[in-house]
Amino acid sequence: MPFTIAIDGPAASGKGTIARALAQGFSFHHLDTGLLYRAVGAKGGDPVRAARELTPADLERPDLRSNETGQAASRVAAIAEVRQALVEFQRSFAMKEPGAVLDGRDIGTVICPGAQLKLYVIASDQVRARRRAAEIDADEAETLAALRERDARDMARATAPLRAADDAVVLDTTYMSISEAVSRAIAEVEARY
Ligand code: C5P
Repeated sequence: MPFTIAIDGPAASGKGTIARALAQGFSFHHLDTGLLYRAVGAKGGDPVRAARELTPADLERPDLRSNETGQAASRVAAIAEVRQALVEFQRSFAMKEPGAVLDGRDIGTVICPGAQLKLYVIASDQVRARRRAAEIDADEAETLAALRERDARDMARATAPLRAADDAVVLDTTYMSISEAVSRAIAEVEARY
């Protein structure tokens, strides 16, 4: 039985960094599920069809990280048929041995409700905007507005809204360095693996 780590949280909370570090530290596979929705949003046209026909090459597009693509992703992510089309790929990824880390919005609640560890990573809006703006070389105020708009949409949608699973460990990274956040996450894995 593979070990599954589900990491959810709002945009730029640090979940991607933590997911990569855990995957590297425990030699687990890693899937950034936001990339799937970004690729669907970036493709344009009928999003349901784009989700059904998604290819690995779609995940390699250079423009996937921008604020614009993030907004497009959160719009297509509210469509139930889009989400449905991506479920099977994510669940089979989670079955990889010896384990997998999936980060997103609904991993602990919908995709992998049986995950051995669920982390819900949060940070203040300002800290998240600062981190993301630096990462993608964008304006901080614009990034803050974009993050807030996206989080509100992700939390309000009817299908698989962003929320912590009841059994998730909440990790607030507002005042943590990357290494501190990663150490905390590693300790949670070690307590279970
Ligand atoms: O994580 P990232 O910021 O790349 O995600 C982009 C968008 O994709 C999110 O704002 C959200 O709307 C959507 N998403 C989702 N479910 C996931 C991962 C991402 O709805 N598991």
